[in-house]
Amino acid sequence: MTRDPAPLSTAPHAADLAQADDMPLLRLVDVRKYFPGRRAFLRSDAAAVKAVDGVSLSVRRGETLGLVGESGCGKSTLGRCILHLAPPTGGQVLFDGQDLATLSAQEMRQRRREMQIVFQDPYSALNPRKTVGSILTEAYRIHGLYTPSERMDKARALLDMVGLRTEHIHRYPHEFSGGQRQRICIARAIALDPKLIVADEAVSALDVSVQAQVLNLMVTLQKRLGLTYVFISHDLRVVRHISDRVGVMYLGRLVELSDTASLYRRPLHPYSEALLSALPRLGPRTGGKRIVLKGDMPSPVNPPSGCAFHPRCPQRRDRCAIEAPDLREHAPGRLAACHYPLLDVPASGEDAAQEGAARSNASKDNNIFQRTGSVP
Ligand SMILES: Nc1ncnc2c1ncn2[C@@H]1O[C@H](COP(=O)(O)OP(=O)(O)O)[C@@H](O)[C@H]1O
Ligand SMILES: [Mg+2]
Repeated sequence: MTRDPAPLSTAPHAADLAQADDMPLLRLVDVRKYFPGRRAFLRSDAAAVKAVDGVSLSVRRGETLGLVGESGCGKSTLGRCILHLAPPTGGQVLFDGQDLATLSAQEMRQRRREMQIVFQDPYSALNPRKTVGSILTEAYRIHGLYTPSERMDKARALLDMVGLRTEHIHRYPHEFSGGQRQRICIARAIALDPKLIVADEAVSALDVSVQAQVLNLMVTLQKRLGLTYVFISHDLRVVRHISDRVGVMYLGRLVELSDTASLYRRPLHPYSEALLSALPRLGPRTGGKRIVLKGDMPSPVNPPSGCAFHPRCPQRRDRCAIEAPDLREHAPGRLAACHYPLLDVPASGEDAAQEGAARSNASKDNNIFQRTGSVP
């Protein structure tokens, strides 16, 4: 990988960006991942764990899609499905328009170069017995690319790109700080010039100040290399910092998918609202009031009927326990899986009356619709 002076015209995927603008780089169609369940005590059945249960979305080239949700909601499993590290139980993953399930082993190997993952833990992700140079040249060796000295040149260029000193190429992972190690992981991820990087809690193990530096590095690399990110995190602040759009997951499903600014200003789904309310400065529509959800997230083995969120939903009505809402567009570019999304204008007829009543009960003294100030 060489340094190019004019990033836009020489970005490796600039050509793709121009010609295939309308085709998303990644498209998920009703992706499911069920794990075989363990036999419970005194029970003969072994129900499946529905870790991901019907996720559909597209990611545009050069975009960062954030995925948020509580621990156990299926973010990592979805990330692994996207890369076919865990082949989905159902549905399709289309990468560059190609269904990954239809690829031969050799075609898949080729595709893998274009899709990389960065994990949370930069300590366990790097082999402690290998030098940084060896770690960064490994992919070239596996794919039989370049001569040994060219590989080391590339590794130095990679170190430089992620803001590390090239003379540290002979050092071992333990000689670096956590943030530096994550930079090494990122350098390794971009070694083969990928199109897509799935970052799974990539900065979650780092100190807040270091988090910002690594996020900024990721943004810089994205622009320079034309990368597309799926950025997974339980941390709403981190996701907001880096994402163009955000998908909110609950119990294996997407409950909301919106552009970042709209989501954080005014979430449509009561679950998104509750998550955001835990961050007072980011949750303007609740007037700074924290919405504490009752109970824990239910088990993905036996999800509740209807809308899986209904037992904990402050806005629930009878219909919610019976009928599962589809993820659909309620405002331009704003999707939510909710029968009664938190919109300014109530739905028509009977729903409207019910909506008004529920709304005034749920948030009596918060005139949430009039708060339009920008989010700090
Ligand atoms: N290999 C597995 N076998 C069985 N269950 C799993 C496996 N991996 C994940 N799960 C379950 O799937 C659900 C989603 O897990 P995960 O994708 O790790 O969530 P998140 O990344 O959002 O915390 C959890 O209930 C988890 O226990
Ligand atoms: Mg996870």
